[in-house]
Amino acid sequence: RFSWYKKMRNESPVYYDEKAKIWDVFLYEDIVKILKNPKIFSSERKNKNIPTSNSIIAMDPPRHNKIRALVNKAFTPRTIQMWKPRIEWHIQKLLEKVQDENQFDIVKTIAYPLPLTIIATIIGVPNSDMDKFREWTMSIVSGPADNSKETIKENTKSVYKGFKNLNDYFAEIIEKKRNEPQDDIISVLINAEEDGFKLSNEEIIGFSILLLIAGHETTTNLITNSVYCFLENEPLLNQIKQDPDLLPKAIEEVLRYRSPVHAMPRIVKENTELRGQKLKAGDEIVLWIGSANRDENQFDCAEEFNLQRTSNSHLAFGTGIHFCLGAPLSRLETNLVLLELIKRFPNMKLSTKHTIEPLQSPLMYGLKKLEVTV
Ligand code: HEM
Repeated sequence: RFSWYKKMRNESPVYYDEKAKIWDVFLYEDIVKILKNPKIFSSERKNKNIPTSNSIIAMDPPRHNKIRALVNKAFTPRTIQMWKPRIEWHIQKLLEKVQDENQFDIVKTIAYPLPLTIIATIIGVPNSDMDKFREWTMSIVSGPADNSKETIKENTKSVYKGFKNLNDYFAEIIEKKRNEPQDDIISVLINAEEDGFKLSNEEIIGFSILLLIAGHETTTNLITNSVYCFLENEPLLNQIKQDPDLLPKAIEEVLRYRSPVHAMPRIVKENTELRGQKLKAGDEIVLWIGSANRDENQFDCAEEFNLQRTSNSHLAFGTGIHFCLGAPLSRLETNLVLLELIKRFPNMKLSTKHTIEPLQSPLMYGLKKLEVTV
């Protein structure tokens, strides 16, 4: 896909896809311009039936500012640092399971289960409810196994059932936490207030479900892509082993070079022009951040992984008013996982018989499987 991005950046950076009836935008400069102008380029979703279409990620100002100010209180870098010991504890538990193995799959062992467990913990789901909670979440985040009508129908049914269960469950725990606040996000959100404005129960439930969806596969991909980038580049891996303080910088370069999310939608609100193309009110746009992060006009030697980059203003978490709320959390999780993997398995390598299976989605970028030997 990176060669397609490059071709489009050179030949047709603002392209109208007649078949899909969607504009595709590929250049860094254009994407930043769009993300910084929510008045003309709205985050509203055309399809109101998707679960997150009413949440902050699909909201415009002024409502977005109000809700974002409230939920920010639960996601400051300082608040997130408080979760560090619990994240470390879960990493230990998950990696202990493969302590005696010679070979294991990074995705299945840690990259997949960790983010979901952490979000659930942060939201305030007690350990005793974790299994049923995981089951309901899985039923809403996993897509149909194939494209047959039957399977899609079954999947839709199970998505609705998962939602219903999660809704009822959250309603119950919000009630409990109103009487007995705890050290978790739901308790912070119940009590958060800005100029007399508070979140309703429905808004807290909707937001919790958004967190499950937005923070799950994205962080899984960041962890997997980081392990992959480091293991395929031995000099880089050795450098990090010698100086683990390099990890945050290396993870930023993974975010640019193998961004977990490759595309984001916007809708044109007012007729406007972009690189001579006429965009009309109501038109849909896809912003290819996976392309922007490889744009040669913004990054020297953009197609190379380079730890020495002095400025790395990638768009992996977006920019502007919708900048990813979970960025500090996913950076912290990934950092802690990599630190522990390096410590616990100093001889970790890509398995020679390994199967590296890429995800099929055009919007997400990661691996289904990443086998390593230790
Ligand atoms: C927004 C990526 C992890 C919660 C975004 C956006 C991107 C993104 C690109 C901007 C969307 C837009 O402008 O339309 C990522 C990546 C992640 C990650 C690459 C992991 C590596 C997380 C986590 C959480 C989270 C862990 C929560 C626990 C959110 C929320 C928004 C958001 C709530 C919407 C913010 C708003 O609309 O104001 N994310 N995300 N994300 N992300 Fe993340």
